[in-house]
Amino acid sequence: MQWSLFLFILMGQSFFFTCHLYVYHFIGENKTWDEAQKYCRENYTDLAIVSNMTDMERLRKSTETLTEAWIGLHSYPGKDNRRWYWSLPGLKFNENQTRWESGEPNDNGGQENCLLMNNQKWSDYPCGYKFRFICYNETKQFNKSFHLINYTLTWPQAQRYCRENHTDLVSGLDQLDDNSVKSGSYVWIGVFRDTWRWSDGRNFSFRNWEYVEDLVDGQSNKTCATTMLNRAGKWSSADCNEEKPFFCYDVPLRKHLVRLTLSAENPSVNLKDPAVINIMLKQLEKKFRDEGVSVKLSWRKLPEIQNNTKEAQREEQCAP
Ligand SMILES: *[C@@H]1O[C@H](CO)[C@@H](O)[C@H](O)[C@H]1NC(C)=O
Ligand SMILES: *[C@@H]1O[C@H](CO)[C@@H](O)[C@H](O)[C@H]1NC(C)=O
Ligand SMILES: *[C@@H]1O[C@H](CO)[C@@H](O)[C@H](O)[C@H]1NC(C)=O
Ligand SMILES: *[C@@H]1O[C@H](CO)[C@@H](O)[C@H](O)[C@H]1NC(C)=O
Ligand SMILES: *[C@@H]1O[C@H](CO)[C@@H](O)[C@H](O)[C@H]1NC(C)=O
Ligand SMILES: *[C@@H]1O[C@H](CO)[C@@H](O)[C@H](O)[C@H]1NC(C)=O
Ligand SMILES: *[C@@H]1O[C@H](CO)[C@@H](O)[C@H](O)[C@H]1NC(C)=O
Ligand SMILES: *[C@@H]1O[C@H](CO)[C@@H](O)[C@H](O)[C@H]1NC(C)=O
Ligand SMILES: *[C@@H]1O[C@H](CO)[C@@H](O)[C@H](O)[C@H]1NC(C)=O
Ligand SMILES: *[C@@H]1O[C@H](CO)[C@@H](O)[C@H](O)[C@H]1NC(C)=O
Repeated sequence: MQWSLFLFILMGQSFFFTCHLYVYHFIGENKTWDEAQKYCRENYTDLAIVSNMTDMERLRKSTETLTEAWIGLHSYPGKDNRRWYWSLPGLKFNENQTRWESGEPNDNGGQENCLLMNNQKWSDYPCGYKFRFICYNETKQFNKSFHLINYTLTWPQAQRYCRENHTDLVSGLDQLDDNSVKSGSYVWIGVFRDTWRWSDGRNFSFRNWEYVEDLVDGQSNKTCATTMLNRAGKWSSADCNEEKPFFCYDVPLRKHLVRLTLSAENPSVNLKDPAVINIMLKQLEKKFRDEGVSVKLSWRKLPEIQNNTKEAQREEQCAP
């Protein structure tokens, strides 16, 4: 029938809308990290993941308790488990787009987990050494996005400086290609590697450590991460067998309101008949299932809009 096909096409437009916000749940029961993970996976989605400072603030605000609580971050110590990340949240590090000096990275000085740039070429370097560094400021005040800081700090200190006074350490090839960045020699830039992994497998590069040693690796026996709510939520590492409260997360339901104006090519189809309307609903649900999308549909009658042409208006929102 003509009219049902027409509806599917309209629905297709709203298919790809996704809601990025995670909802955090504080669980005030003491559990080991593994037990907490099991609890979250059974009752929510997983232990809490945090992708940037906005997420971090929302996690903090989801409880009034000032305690130390597990988050979904676990370290797997060992040189081979390290992975490179850009410091700026949301940028994906691509192993194919790197500018290593020949012979680098080489862990020449032991564990070299931070990135030093000289004449555009990269070397891995121990994070505890002090160098000048370049900050990126997204607010572009006075048309200036990049700031060479003319004194020396360790890499973690430099990251903290940039995040507090600007946005982050300079991150991503697009930023590095800016003419005002090219001048820097022997400067820290926003690349690091570590062995921390998110419980749900995401590759978020965001780290919010209180103690700089944690940035580089879990301390041998402390391979699970906590947020210290009495220290502005800064993270620490702890022995996974300790029992602590924890944060779970889940993804809110996605709710779409789609306005459809129905018209039938075949005049014998009565669009006011609830049975007809219900058949259409069932067909739509089946169509979504065939596409691998699990949906629950219902009709809501909206004020009529007088219009002879076919149209659809969409409203999309994250359900609270
Ligand atoms: C932080 O991450 C969330 C999702 O993880 C995203 O919706 C939000 O836009 C991000 N905020 C910033 C400032 O990047
Ligand atoms: C899920 O939550 C219920 C209570 O809310 C709890 O009894 C149950 O043990 C939890 N699941 C796991 C695996 O911990
Ligand atoms: C990197 O290059 C390899 C081989 O050229 C390719 O198979 C892979 O998909 C590339 N990875 C990314 C992230 O582009
Ligand atoms: C910033 O740059 C734009 C053009 O690139 C220019 O029109 C504007 O005046 C500049 N603003 C400042 C504060 O320098
Ligand atoms: C950096 O500071 C030193 C003195 O500490 C000064 O001699 C030098 O000119 C400065 N460089 C830049 C680029 O400002
Ligand atoms: C921010 O900049 C000020 C002035 O340069 C400096 O004193 C302060 O230490 C910086 N913040 C951090 C976290 O380094
Ligand atoms: C850098 O960004 C911060 C906000 O992140 C802003 O308050 C500050 O004024 C900016 N400074 C410069 C020099 O652009
Ligand atoms: C995370 O990165 C690794 C290595 O770059 C890759 O194999 C993996 O598929 C990524 N995981 C996700 C969820 O993107
Ligand atoms: C780490 O654990 C091992 C045995 O599991 C123990 O011998 C060692 O003392 C622990 N180290 C620290 C710093 O707690
Ligand atoms: C009727 O449909 C046309 C074409 O889709 C549209 O431009 C117009 O705004 C609609 N009128 C009303 C009242 O919604």
